[in-house]
Amino acid sequence: MSERDVIIACDFPGKAETLAFLEKFPEGEKPYVKIGMELFYGAGPDIVRELKDKGHRIFLDLKLHDIPNTVKSAMKVLSSLGADMCNVHCAGTIPMMEAALEGLTRPDGTRPLLIAVTQLTSTSEELMKRDLLIDKPIDEVVMSYAMNAKKAGLDGVVCSPWEAGKVHSVCGNEFLTVTPGIRFPDGDKGDQSRVADPAKAKELGSDFIVVGRPITKAEDPVAAYRRCMREFAL
Ligand code: C5P
Repeated sequence: MSERDVIIACDFPGKAETLAFLEKFPEGEKPYVKIGMELFYGAGPDIVRELKDKGHRIFLDLKLHDIPNTVKSAMKVLSSLGADMCNVHCAGTIPMMEAALEGLTRPDGTRPLLIAVTQLTSTSEELMKRDLLIDKPIDEVVMSYAMNAKKAGLDGVVCSPWEAGKVHSVCGNEFLTVTPGIRFPDGDKGDQSRVADPAKAKELGSDFIVVGRPITKAEDPVAAYRRCMREFAL
């Protein structure tokens, strides 16, 4: 089993807002952060190097999906920036995921963790059938995609905390579950539907929780982050 950790989703429009947010933390406290498409495309690759230099670990949530050769080359670049975790879409198939892993491996043999997105939570069973012509229950598709990620040698999947147990039972306890949709019991759910609080996510077997607004929009973000750490990671 991995070391559990809390990843803060830095869903800010630019570098200035991101740095201002992270400066609220004392010098010795360096949370694991998630950089998504908006921040990466807006601020550019230097944001990864800069946050690494400040001592943060980084989940680069760019969800790559292209032909294997292109994904391999792109992953080589992301790995050289110093990312600690990257991701791809399982829909790219096993050869694409294998190519992603190859690209991520650095000359010294180290590499970031590689996590797969199974089906996006915005894709309902109805949309899957109508637009993707996949005529199977969504649970079955998610577990089959997770198995593909495991077969390709990936480290885990992004899923709901409520799916973490099933993913572990199908793919093994070492296979990581990275779970967004985290809310405090006394907090606002916002647009997330199947939420769990940090303690529940721990009980359900999540390895990493990805927490955005409950920390970034809190009156005291440092206290909210520490509460997540206390309830989930300790
Ligand atoms: O603010 P909140 O805690 O809802 O942020 C959750 C983060 O996790 C956001 O960056 C969101 O894009 C991401 N995410 C998610 N659900 C998924 C995949 C990613 O909420 N299925």
